[in-house]
Amino acid sequence: MGNIPGNIKHEVEKLVKDLNYHCYRYYVLDSPEIADEEYDKQYRHLKELEEKYNYVLPDSPTQRVGAPPLDKFEKVKHAEPMLSLDNAFSHDEVREFDERVKKLLKTGMGIEYTVEPKYDGLAMELTYRKGILYRASTRGDGYEGEDVTVNIKTIKAVPLKIEGSEIPEEIDIRGEVYIDIREFEALNRAREKEGEPAFANPRNAAAGSIRQLDSSITAKRKLHLACYGIGAVKGITFKSQWEFITWLKNARFPVPALIKLVRGIDEVIDVIKEIEQKRSSFPFEADGAVIKVNDFELQKALGIKTREPRWATAYKFPAHQGITKINEIIASVGRTGTITPVAFLESVRIGGVTVSRSTLHNWDEIERKDIRVGDTVVVERAGDVIPHVVEVKKDNRTGKEKLFRPPHKCPVCGSAVEKDEGGVAFRCIGLNCSAQVQNRIGHFASRAAMDIEGLGEKNVELLYSKGLIKHFVDIYELKKEDLLELPRFAEKSAQNLIDAIEKSKHTTLARFLYSLGIIHIGEYAAKLLARNFENLEGLYHITTEKIIAIKQMGEKTAESVSRFFNDPENLKTLKTLKSLGVKITNPDFIKTQGKERPLEGLTFVITGTLPRPRNEVEELIEYSGGHASGSVSKKTDYLVAGEEAGSKLKKAKELGVKIISYEELIKML
Ligand code: IVH
Repeated sequence: MGNIPGNIKHEVEKLVKDLNYHCYRYYVLDSPEIADEEYDKQYRHLKELEEKYNYVLPDSPTQRVGAPPLDKFEKVKHAEPMLSLDNAFSHDEVREFDERVKKLLKTGMGIEYTVEPKYDGLAMELTYRKGILYRASTRGDGYEGEDVTVNIKTIKAVPLKIEGSEIPEEIDIRGEVYIDIREFEALNRAREKEGEPAFANPRNAAAGSIRQLDSSITAKRKLHLACYGIGAVKGITFKSQWEFITWLKNARFPVPALIKLVRGIDEVIDVIKEIEQKRSSFPFEADGAVIKVNDFELQKALGIKTREPRWATAYKFPAHQGITKINEIIASVGRTGTITPVAFLESVRIGGVTVSRSTLHNWDEIERKDIRVGDTVVVERAGDVIPHVVEVKKDNRTGKEKLFRPPHKCPVCGSAVEKDEGGVAFRCIGLNCSAQVQNRIGHFASRAAMDIEGLGEKNVELLYSKGLIKHFVDIYELKKEDLLELPRFAEKSAQNLIDAIEKSKHTTLARFLYSLGIIHIGEYAAKLLARNFENLEGLYHITTEKIIAIKQMGEKTAESVSRFFNDPENLKTLKTLKSLGVKITNPDFIKTQGKERPLEGLTFVITGTLPRPRNEVEELIEYSGGHASGSVSKKTDYLVAGEEAGSKLKKAKELGVKIISYEELIKML
């Protein structure tokens, strides 16, 4: 770098500075000063100079284009945990929040609060060192997230460098990455065309876009950012949320729309009403308003309870509703044969999102609400759930509406249909029902299971219809040549799928068990089994009793597992998978055999903030033979109390439960 002419250096620096400024005008302020062509011209010039002189500044806009795909995301521990928010579902509950704050602070005076929209996106932490974006990580479980720096850099509103005169040594800035509603809908239309499943809501779309190992895909999604919080910080102090927000704005960070500083609860309610009223005109999805105590000293005094600060709350807007007509109801067959009625609706915009389908759950629900084909219905979309029918507008009936009865035969394979034990669900009993088989294969390949990228619903359907896979075992016998025969595959896509299949052969016992689609075995139960069985063979011919003996395993689950592992066909399938090269490791197995179980028979409840994440402490207790419970009762032997312990501590004292610290717990081990 030494032999770069001074004037070139200067020119590169000026170009970076100017381009970053224009990027900020365009993406943060939404008010550009120059034409796009002019920006592109300067950008190209910068790129040429950078390449010619090999002189690239860390905050150069050319660093936003994405990087070579990653194998996996590295884990990142947050220096300060990323908390969640308590909810208030009515204005009265917001007033109760204010009452609690005042009581805890022992004041009758009006408190200063900031009020802003709650974005339906993904929480992120941006770490800046000496003013340069050093790392971006997802919230994860609040304590540990994933390093998504290259992806975040592709978001144009994310400053690569902090502007202004007050640059802290190090700062963690928290905010929400989100996608605009229009962009969300365009993305879903494109996905449906490609045969990929649509995202259920903007939040999932943002999360799916950020969690891309190939950042060039993230770069194509138009993501935004709103910054609202501060984590660990060195070299600068802020007295209040508002002071911090003002600093953020000067440093060119995007902050929440309509954010306001007010005093007293009446003014808070006014702003909430304003946000709610403007909500449907926002380009983004807001599912509520966030209210925070402004003064940082007061925030500190109020502290946190478990994982939610006492100084903030989220007021949740009532769900969006819309009125539309049911054009058709179809019976859809899932992987275990369960038949679910799904309503196809006259498209309607609800809270900025186009809705054309709604689950009717089951026939009890249809009967209870008396839902018929042709009915006018009220449909509700609450934050992130799939829309559902709230009620039928019976006054609109013409007499032509038709009842939708449960099918006697499977609509897909024609096999008999049986009512489930519980009596609510109907199930196709056909073992070879193509809908079930395809869904089982899709489940086997899905992200949380064997994680075979590129083997989504549409490709499963294609491979199945061409007779290439009739069972998930067949996936491991697919050849590239087979794929090349198919309309949707070319050299590269075929190779990618073959590579993904190969990669999936190395998996964990928990994932493998989940992918088998054993009834009642979700991700959690699969993990629980993996913790208790060193290897797959340990489960062969297992009895129900042995599974029930595992804490938290229910009877139905145990029966289902035992039935699965005593079926000769299933055992044959497992052996075939192994012979085809599937290799299973089990990092989840906890060796308790031969070890002391010092907490055997004792029940613990955890409260307050401990030095280690709660789930980790709970695991430790279970690992040592104890039981971790969620609430204090007479049966509780010990309450492990951390900082800011609240009502559980009070209750434990009342009941005379022994109270110990985290350190004392460790000593017991
Ligand atoms: S403040 C303790 N402000 O809501 C402070 N969160 O339920 C916690 N969110 O994980 C965050 N908009 O993902 C805050 N204006 C906003 C927000 C917001 C969306 C999300 C965020 C957080 C979750 C908590």
